[in-house]
Amino acid sequence: MHHLVVTTRPPPRCRELAALADEALAFHRTLPGYAPTPLHDLPALAEDLGVASLRLKDESHRFDLNAFKVLGASFAIHRWMADHPGEWRVTFTTATDGNHGRAVAWAARRLGAEAVVFIPAHASPARIAAIEAEGATVELVEEGYDAAVRAAHEAAASEGWVAIQDTASPGYEEIPEWIAAGYWTHATELEPLPHGPDAPDVDLVLLHAGVGTWAAAIAAYYWHRYGERRPRIAIVEPSTAACVLAGALTGRPVPIDASRRTIMAGLDCALASSTALAALHHSVDAFFTIDDRWSLAAMRRLAMPRAGDPQVVAGESGAAGLAGLLALTSEAALEPVRRHLSLDDTSRVLVWSTEGATDPDHWAEVVGRPVPA
Ligand SMILES: Cc1ncc(COP(=O)(O)O)c(C=O)c1O
Repeated sequence: MHHLVVTTRPPPRCRELAALADEALAFHRTLPGYAPTPLHDLPALAEDLGVASLRLKDESHRFDLNAFKVLGASFAIHRWMADHPGEWRVTFTTATDGNHGRAVAWAARRLGAEAVVFIPAHASPARIAAIEAEGATVELVEEGYDAAVRAAHEAAASEGWVAIQDTASPGYEEIPEWIAAGYWTHATELEPLPHGPDAPDVDLVLLHAGVGTWAAAIAAYYWHRYGERRPRIAIVEPSTAACVLAGALTGRPVPIDASRRTIMAGLDCALASSTALAALHHSVDAFFTIDDRWSLAAMRRLAMPRAGDPQVVAGESGAAGLAGLLALTSEAALEPVRRHLSLDDTSRVLVWSTEGATDPDHWAEVVGRPVPA
């Protein structure tokens, strides 16, 4: 399924987000061990896919946390503490499919604060253990991610905890905006190349979405920095959890039936973030969906590259951007999307691998070899 946007326009609150993003970047630079994550060139894969160039930003080493999510959680917690000086006995809570919860636990522990993380009971044991290893209390929720979000908000209200949630709903917008501002660092790290001062050295960017907060943040970055000279942007989601596409089609967040699981656990969400959807709705060029087999193919291709390309360890959700490109360059049903995005042999494409092997056993099973040390 897909949806094409004919007349795009800048997302709302771009300027406010940019100001917060400057603050977030300055904060991230103070974190011990902070360093921009690598950008890889994949010339052999670009050749196989028939595009001019393919670059991939690799999050498998972010603070040893294996995912980009800490950029948002750490800044939101920092901002909350700055607004509440002296409140050191705080408990932060959140819901997660894995990465965001681990990030909240990590950021809370840095400050000596407690964290309680709600996670679907079907989450992989490795992802649950990684959150516990950061000292957080983990609460299993029988239903999926969206029930975990409700449980975290209810617990925050009844226990006096602070919800650091990466998805917005009416009346809960400020903290998700801080998280989105933190995600901008991800895009700023690509300056000055390929994000040059006047124009990007990129024609097409594929952003994968769970609730859409990360994609909305990166899309806002491109509009703010480049305006009409921005690259074309496409949003890719699992076909069984396409809540951002559903929202883009109806113009507001609508719950979808996400009872069929996707292996792309970080993207397995049934309701888009209200503010992310408002931002993405008209500001990107296309929304489309992919089956899990494309994520498996992307993980394997990155793990076992053709000569000339580096090896990249990408988890199931992390590989989704490249998975989208694999589908786009070979599925006949996606031809209208391909045309709309002007994807051809002159295209310079950028994808983001947003996590490493966050479920190492599953990665090893998919790839047929252990996770490299
Ligand atoms: C690895 C990874 N990539 C991408 C995303 C998508 O982020 P968002 O939910 O803001 O759309 C997530 C969300 O948890 C994730 O864990």
